[in-house]
Amino acid sequence: MKGIVFTEFLDLVEEKFGIEMVDKIISQSTLESEGIYTSIGTYSFSEMLQLLKHLSENTNISIDNLLLVYAEHFFSVIENSYPGLLATYKDPIEMISSIEDHIHIEVRKIYPDAELPTFIVEEKTEDSLVLIYKSSRAMHHFGLGLMNKTFAHFNSTANIVLEKIKEDGTVVKFLINKN
Ligand code: HEM
Repeated sequence: MKGIVFTEFLDLVEEKFGIEMVDKIISQSTLESEGIYTSIGTYSFSEMLQLLKHLSENTNISIDNLLLVYAEHFFSVIENSYPGLLATYKDPIEMISSIEDHIHIEVRKIYPDAELPTFIVEEKTEDSLVLIYKSSRAMHHFGLGLMNKTFAHFNSTANIVLEKIKEDGTVVKFLINKN
């Protein structure tokens, strides 16, 4: 997992819960990085899982909800870091249905070792989309948060329903309807 995902995560934890919480979840985890991340580095996904698990235990907020809020923050990082990529799109459905064949392809050019999910478009109309998410990392709520903010970016909203195809969250169906 790319370092920017860790640095932005710990920044948000500090902003919401204070530096003591950052120190606490780092010391509760067994981290090869010792909790020292640079935005261009690459670190084990298990480090993110441990940080999330301990933050969840300390705050009583579910990992899914932590990932949702984190993704909403991460979207503003994307807006600031990759404005050109977003400017290619005029519509949220077009953008979300292009993650697999365009957006994440560009991401991989920037970060060849990025660990990205697979999105399969099952159905698409002007204002609806059915997408299958597949990833061993089961970060579907990170996807949900990014989708919410994609609609907000285009001054729009949507009703997004998530159906787990696999119990462990590694395969999930998203039913997206623009309001
Ligand atoms: C992961 C970039 C849009 C869904 C990532 C990562 C980056 C990235 C850097 C981390 C990879 C790693 O740590 O190895 C971007 C950029 C975008 C964009 C620059 C827009 C310009 C989206 C959108 C979605 C999405 C709109 C919404 C569905 C995900 C998910 C992951 C991810 C779910 C987590 C990895 C996983 O589930 O396996 N993306 N992304 N991305 N992205 Fe995107």
